[in-house]
Amino acid sequence: MTSTYRLIENARLDGRNTFGVPARAPMLVEVSDAAALPELFGYALLRDGPLLVLGGGSNLLFAGDAEGAVLALGSQKISIIEDDGEHAIVRADAGVEWHALVLWTLGHGLAGLENLALIPGTVGAAPIQNIGAYGTEVRDCIHRVEAFERSSRELHRLDATACAFAYRDSLFKREPDRYVVTAVEFALSRTPTLKLDYAGLGDELAAMGIDIGSVRASQVAEAVIRIRQRKLPDPAVLGNAGSFFKNPILPAAQAETLQAAHPKLPVFRGNDDTTRKLSAAWLIDQCGWKGHRDGDAGVAASHALVLVNHGHATGMQILDLARRIAASVQERFGVALEPEPRVIGAQW
Ligand code: EPU
Repeated sequence: MTSTYRLIENARLDGRNTFGVPARAPMLVEVSDAAALPELFGYALLRDGPLLVLGGGSNLLFAGDAEGAVLALGSQKISIIEDDGEHAIVRADAGVEWHALVLWTLGHGLAGLENLALIPGTVGAAPIQNIGAYGTEVRDCIHRVEAFERSSRELHRLDATACAFAYRDSLFKREPDRYVVTAVEFALSRTPTLKLDYAGLGDELAAMGIDIGSVRASQVAEAVIRIRQRKLPDPAVLGNAGSFFKNPILPAAQAETLQAAHPKLPVFRGNDDTTRKLSAAWLIDQCGWKGHRDGDAGVAASHALVLVNHGHATGMQILDLARRIAASVQERFGVALEPEPRVIGAQW
């Protein structure tokens, strides 16, 4: 029988994080089939010690080494598990590359994930920070999340409500030691309800010569890909983890006072009517950080929210730059920024 897992001691993680910073783990556990988890979590190393579940490594910053075991799920299956000809449930294993899933669903005539095209990372990581872009969050399409509970060694199926999703947040992010996400089920549709409101999306479709009245989901994905390729550096070329800071959410009154003082500040609706979301990119841009570089740690020239590694930056150098950016935004606007990626080996 072929083994469904592999253990690597003192493993290098440099190639497993999209910042491309150096880091190590005392033990890397590569698992190709989630069915191996109950057996693996019988061992004290995985059951009791610190654990980091690693997807594509596109939403974390190694400011130091991983403390305990690092688990990487490589399971790769995608299938349609229910289909009434109109609506379908697609199940994808945690190890599937996110963008490959988006293309697979569109290739099968299923809409819902088109605005989330080209986001780096894996399917298993998507619900953890409730990935979002161009007016869609992944929670809008999540039917259920399959997750292995460490303490009970049981597989649970959580519906979207149980996942407690919020902007770039979920139960899995708030309780990182509790579950390992093993697969996600998505509710998709053959008759799309397309979301075309996000600034720039309609213009991009128009520039592609596409009539908004008859646009297809695959064309929306194409427009999103074009915008992302223009604005966001490709992690394969320039190390980064997408947006480094979350857009801050403030009480509506505070946001309005700020906007009165800074009329150009982009302000969006928060989770409800009492809150507003501010553009962190704009705040950082105003403080003059766009394109800034300290050695190999820098801010992308194309987008103020993206921190980059120009080659040999360490995670600590990137974190140090991030702290100085946040301090300057705090000083000038009185707004606290919080990192979006998980910071390993240091406190924010
Ligand atoms: N802006 C600037 N300077 C810049 C870039 C943007 O002032 O350098 C201002 C512009 O006014 C623009 C506004 O910021 O209108 C918003 O910019 P953008 O549309 O790029 O969106 P964002 O709020 O910066 C968020 C997500 C991105 C997602 C885009 C598109 C967060 C933290 N980030 O960025 O997600 O792709 O919207 O929907 O919510 C990620 O999470 O890693 C990520 C890339």
